[in-house]
Amino acid sequence: MPRSAFAATNDFLSRDPLVGRAEFHDIMDHAISANLNLTLKIWRQPASNQPGALKTYQLDGISTDMSFLEMLDVLNEQLIAKGEEPVAFDHDCREGICGTCGVMINGQAHGPDTGTTTCQLHMRRFKDGDTIVIEPWLARAFPIVRDLVVDRSAFDRIIQSGGYVSVNTGNAPEANNTLVPHHIQQDAMGAAACIGCGACVASCKNASAMLFVSAKVSHLASLPQGQAERSKRVLKMVATMDAEHFGNCTNTGECEAACPAKIQLTNIAQLNREYIKAALFSNE
Ligand code: SF4
Ligand code: FES
Repeated sequence: MPRSAFAATNDFLSRDPLVGRAEFHDIMDHAISANLNLTLKIWRQPASNQPGALKTYQLDGISTDMSFLEMLDVLNEQLIAKGEEPVAFDHDCREGICGTCGVMINGQAHGPDTGTTTCQLHMRRFKDGDTIVIEPWLARAFPIVRDLVVDRSAFDRIIQSGGYVSVNTGNAPEANNTLVPHHIQQDAMGAAACIGCGACVASCKNASAMLFVSAKVSHLASLPQGQAERSKRVLKMVATMDAEHFGNCTNTGECEAACPAKIQLTNIAQLNREYIKAALFSNE
């Protein structure tokens, strides 16, 4: 089996078991390394206060073994060689951890793969001759900085308002002093998987940040360390979310479908319970 076919098989086996057989065959069809000739339509905007537009580029000979960001690297090398401005896009880890790389790819946040960030998307998911439309997150709370780069500091301000626990520093505590039941630990870790990418906001017709905020609130509300600030946290984070002009949640579920960390809508239900309890029964 060629190396790329082996890699694709591994890729498939590590995925959610709900991924369909059709997708497996689609992957295998494209598993043999090949070169793609692509038409890219990329949002170009020189600055936040200047108008932007989709610009078309022809990009030939892109290996199906490349990642999506490597494909953009190739485009930028060609643009620089021609004396043109490279396309600005955010990235850091390129390992699906940092949450900086998100863009809309053919109208889907992070592209066609489920549970996958843009940096983990591979060009084998595309076909020769494809046209790929690449746009930045579009949300009032995420103003465009340049091209595909948006300012997601609204998320940082939500975290600063309450997404933390206050602890006494000093020696590391004995781990067995604070016991956490396994199922609670699993729920907390599931919520903590949020990488703050903003795909939930970009996918939501209301540009709601409820999935992001609910992940942070659920994570800390589940654990003993989060109890002291539990009421204050949820009230402050929701107030900051509203002040940052994120929209309301209307339960369409696009956020969950787009989330590369597979954060579940059940966290939004928990956020609502936490908020009602804090608003009605706490002194905060
Ligand atoms: S909830 Fe998911 S989509 Fe939203 S910021 Fe967190 S990881 Fe990204
Ligand atoms: S570059 Fe870090 S998640 Fe994609």
